[in-house]
Amino acid sequence: MERRVAVLIVFAVGVSSLHAVDHTLDSVWEDWKSLHGKEYTQDSEGQRRMIWEENHRFIQQHNLEEAQGKHSYKLGMNQFGDLTDEEYQEMMLSSEEVSQEEFSSLPVWNGTVLKAPAQLDWRPRGYVTHVKNQGKPHRCGSCWAFSATGALEGQMFKKTGRLVPLSEQNLVDCSKPFGNNGCDGGLALKAFNYIAKNGGIESEKTYPYEAKVMPCRYNKKRSVAYCKGYKKLPSGDEKSLRDALIDVGPIAVSVNASLKTFKLYKSGIYSDPACRKGTNHAVLAVGYGVSKTSNMQGGPAKFWIVKNSWGTHWGEKGYIRVARYNNNQCGIGIRSTYPVV
Ligand SMILES: *[C@@H]1O[C@H](CO)[C@@H](O)[C@H](O)[C@H]1NC(C)=O
Ligand SMILES: *[C@@H]1O[C@H](CO)[C@@H](O)[C@H](O)[C@H]1NC(C)=O
Repeated sequence: MERRVAVLIVFAVGVSSLHAVDHTLDSVWEDWKSLHGKEYTQDSEGQRRMIWEENHRFIQQHNLEEAQGKHSYKLGMNQFGDLTDEEYQEMMLSSEEVSQEEFSSLPVWNGTVLKAPAQLDWRPRGYVTHVKNQGKPHRCGSCWAFSATGALEGQMFKKTGRLVPLSEQNLVDCSKPFGNNGCDGGLALKAFNYIAKNGGIESEKTYPYEAKVMPCRYNKKRSVAYCKGYKKLPSGDEKSLRDALIDVGPIAVSVNASLKTFKLYKSGIYSDPACRKGTNHAVLAVGYGVSKTSNMQGGPAKFWIVKNSWGTHWGEKGYIRVARYNNNQCGIGIRSTYPVV
């Protein structure tokens, strides 16, 4: 008897959270599937459609509120539209394991900037390569490798005047002895350590991305970039992040990317008060600025310009603007490093 009651309750809860398929969205669903190359078995399609519709409704509701001035950013459908938040977190994020000791022993950036411009963007100055996609052809938790190559690409450009896309696969395959974990997470600073000790890294062209761990095939004759070491920024100090961006160039930074609003971010200045400061996703800060175009009264106007590695369908053509001087929004500025070339 007791068991039957329990079964009935579970059944009722299950049903109440299910919406019937909204057939007015049929063509939107088909277009989305073909845009992102999604293919399902007949069994799984129904469930994926339900999750996608839930994400779709969440986006519409948020954007309605944004139009009323309640948010400083918009959401939009992207390749994560058929994933629950838990699946997305599991696939795309990884806790960043670095002991306090290890981090605190790193040399610190100690440059000085006398006059900071109101805005800075390294992209038009040639320091930044195209937006890459860590999840192509399949999922791989290698954000740390993209964050590291991005920072080194900028420093090499600064030094040589040549912008060469560098090989994440080289890092995924070869930096395990330095504490990185291939497609299951890692840290940009450990990648810099590998490159420094290894004496170089290959280019994207000679050592292309495969999104899975393979045997290390580094060949020093094909090495195109190097670094002598690496430095960190004072933890949590966003003024230092600004000054280091001016003084150094693009900086490897980390954020907390757990929230649904990050998963579905489309445009605007990202600021979600629910975001905690522990970091689980490595990205690249390439500049900062001030906006005058938010609907949101008293909302954030200052932002960091951040390059992600989730392709160009996510965010502002692959970028996100994260609220700046907003109490380290999503942990930005807590853990920032760059390679010394
Ligand atoms: C930064 O530190 C280096 C050595 O760690 C030192 O040589 C240099 O003078 C310092 N620069 C400033 C501006 O303090
Ligand atoms: C990221 O933020 C979410 C939402 O506040 C929180 O639940 C999660 O624990 C945070 N992650 C880390 C690694 O701190």
